[in-house]
Amino acid sequence: MYIVLFGPPGAGKGTQAVRLAQAARLAHVATGDMFRDNLRARTALGQRAESYLTKGELVPDELTIGLLMDRLDQPDAAAGVIFDGFPRTIPQAQALDRALHARGKGVGVAALIEVANAEVLRRLGGRWTCSDCGMVFHERTNPPERDGICQRCGKLLMQRSDDTPAAIENRLRVYRQQTEPLVAFYEAAGILTRVDGEREPEAVQADLLRVLEAVSA
Ligand code: AP5
Repeated sequence: MYIVLFGPPGAGKGTQAVRLAQAARLAHVATGDMFRDNLRARTALGQRAESYLTKGELVPDELTIGLLMDRLDQPDAAAGVIFDGFPRTIPQAQALDRALHARGKGVGVAALIEVANAEVLRRLGGRWTCSDCGMVFHERTNPPERDGICQRCGKLLMQRSDDTPAAIENRLRVYRQQTEPLVAFYEAAGILTRVDGEREPEAVQADLLRVLEAVSA
């Protein structure tokens, strides 16, 4: 089962992908997390990606697709993947289709998590992310039990460098221009599902689980 989760920044892709991957025992592949890991480790890829991440621009397709293809070759991706934040452009979606097709597989469903801009701004201003396991919290709507500490792994929580007002505004603009065309792409493929992301995380999760069950039936 290969599931694409997409939507604007702050839609809840990461929040939902962690839960779905756990529930459905699928690998969770988040290109944003992979870039941030490379950045922290000061790899050559991290250094090339840094300025794009900080400004809220997309990392060029060539780098992103290469990163994703290497990840698809890992053993845990063979049984299925929740893609979180990939693809984000038409060339990325086409590359994913080709790669899965070559493995005798395909994207089962592309779930668009819909959230309005005002809600994105409210969410990203209060987001805290675990520096180790990537679990996501919000200081008002989903606070950790202990301030600043991840309740799953006990490591420190941090705020992301691209959650500044200027970078958020740019990420929203980039989303509308470069990622929104995927709605028509997946609609034409007959695999688009829209999920209202402006509800409690549990309600969004329940909808997504129903979608996964329908795909795997
Ligand atoms: P990435 O890390 O993918 O960032 P993003 O798409 O901007 O999305 P976010 O991670 O900000 O939000 P999310 O939808 O995961 O929401 P979350 O669950 O955290 O990418 C970062 C950068 O990497 C890009 O800008 C680009 O530079 C690069 N990059 C990554 N992939 C790339 C690609 N494919 N191509 C090129 N470049 C790429 O939730 C947000 C907050 O809301 C949290 O605090 C959470 O607790 C809260 N929340 C979640 N759900 C709910 C709910 N239902 N109700 C209330 N609050 C909620």
